[in-house]
Amino acid sequence: MGEVLAFIVNKGGVGKTTIVVELASALNLRYPEKKVLIIDGDAQGNCSVAFNHDPRDFKNTLYDCVVGDLPANEAIINLRPNLNLLPGNKDMNYFELDVLPNLNGRNPFGFFEKVVNQIRDQYDYILIDSPPDLKTVAINIIKSADRLYIPFKPEKYSVKGLLAVLEVVEEAQKKIGAHAKVEGVIANMVRSQTNLHSNYLLNASIFCHRKSIRLFETRIPETIRFADAVAKFGMPHVLADPKGPHSKIYFDLLEEILDGTR
Ligand SMILES: Nc1ncnc2c1ncn2[C@@H]1O[C@H](COP(=O)(O)OP(=O)(O)OP(=O)(O)O)[C@@H](O)[C@H]1O
Ligand SMILES: [Mg+2]
Repeated sequence: MGEVLAFIVNKGGVGKTTIVVELASALNLRYPEKKVLIIDGDAQGNCSVAFNHDPRDFKNTLYDCVVGDLPANEAIINLRPNLNLLPGNKDMNYFELDVLPNLNGRNPFGFFEKVVNQIRDQYDYILIDSPPDLKTVAINIIKSADRLYIPFKPEKYSVKGLLAVLEVVEEAQKKIGAHAKVEGVIANMVRSQTNLHSNYLLNASIFCHRKSIRLFETRIPETIRFADAVAKFGMPHVLADPKGPHSKIYFDLLEEILDGTR
């Protein structure tokens, strides 16, 4: 049965989507026999963009599966051998409006889990990208996942973001039976040369230690390369330049993450 890994934080622009598409690409290159699925749980549809697809072009998306009962396999597209995408787009903005008034006794947080359970046997790894909040869709994602990863951008108040995620996950465990475990924090967009970033990272490290959460050793540096690869080549950097030093960072992070799942 596939492992469901979700990348979640209520802050925007800290690298959730980039981490999902780069890690999925690294998994696909390093372990080509493993079946990998990306689920784009964000209405912005940026996972599609990373692979040169316009999220507006899809006839069927995750929304149709979670809200409209479309079988997930009818919305999933193939990106590369053994790498698939269940795309999302702005339809997901209507999730609350379409679902909450018509629950008829259904759990408002179980819609994603229902879809994930349909397909998890077909994959070794399912990576889920999340919206930049902790609302109904994000809680659905937490409820559907086995393992949670929190991207962390070293800046003022970032530790508060970590705390917010942990609190919501804990409540989801207590109140709706979420079983997902917070596996760790991923430091992204790190400027290793600056004292300020070192201080923010130190704070994060103390926080994680106190909460018994792993801060992954791999620190993803701030670089234009990840955005560049998508803009220039229509693919994640790891696929555009698999042997480059910035790809190595993602292969290293992948091994750390997989170590935790073995
Ligand atoms: N290591 C990095 N260094 C510099 N820029 C990065 C890095 N990783 C990602 N970016 C860029 O930062 C921007 C935000 O990244 P991304 O879209 O992955 O964040 P996000 O958390 O998914 O955002 P949102 O909350 O809006 O979905 C993008 O332009 C992306 O290319
Ligand atoms: Mg995103």
